[in-house]
Amino acid sequence: MPRHADSLLSLTDFNGAPLADDLVWQSFHTLMDRHGYVLMSRVPETFDPVAFSKRLGDFVPQYTGVLVGDVRPEPGMDEFYHAGNTKPLYPHSEGYDFEGLPPRYLALWCETPNTGAGGETTLADAHAWTATLAEDDRAFLRERIWTWETTDAMRHLGLDLHPEHPVIEDHPDGTIVRYSFNNLVREDDERIGPLLDGAKAYFEREHIAIQYERRDMLVFDNWRMLHARNAFTDTGRHLRRIQIAQRVTA
Ligand SMILES: [Fe+2]
Repeated sequence: MPRHADSLLSLTDFNGAPLADDLVWQSFHTLMDRHGYVLMSRVPETFDPVAFSKRLGDFVPQYTGVLVGDVRPEPGMDEFYHAGNTKPLYPHSEGYDFEGLPPRYLALWCETPNTGAGGETTLADAHAWTATLAEDDRAFLRERIWTWETTDAMRHLGLDLHPEHPVIEDHPDGTIVRYSFNNLVREDDERIGPLLDGAKAYFEREHIAIQYERRDMLVFDNWRMLHARNAFTDTGRHLRRIQIAQRVTA
């Protein structure tokens, strides 16, 4: 039987009747498997994004060490390529600069939407992009190991990582695509440039854009989806952010 009284999610259907948590989770995973992301619009005040995220897996600390991060313009960060300002971000997967596995999911929810234009989170399916490539290009992205680097903002903050990974990695729990247009070290490799350009062009063509309202929550599969951000002007924009690890099944 559904447990309404202690429902973790406190969600209701279109008639205002409580929705059983099991049904919500089933819908969530069905949508996630099909589309690679789920947008929950205007969740109720009683909905707890942190508790919801906890059901998906363990949290991966942010660079600053906190488990639940803030994404908003920060003083002194304007000159850097960094989420903590109002500038656009190139398409990327989160955690390409981690030594180990990148987070499986990224959860973003809106505390304060921006007024004016811009500020959308944009998303496109990197698995669909790799499916458009020639077989030998896919093999190249699986077999060749590149060095990746942290953003200049992170180096400025004292974190300088240089992990080595392929772009496509097969993992028992799914195929991981790591991607950064600007932080994969291209060295003298002439073949990678056009592939990175191609992914960016694919992203620009195929992305969806999410303009947040207050209490919108976006969760996406970070092994599959690339994300980016459009520039904005309202410095009051405030999102919160959780990185969630893959639950290891083995
Ligand atoms: Fe990101």
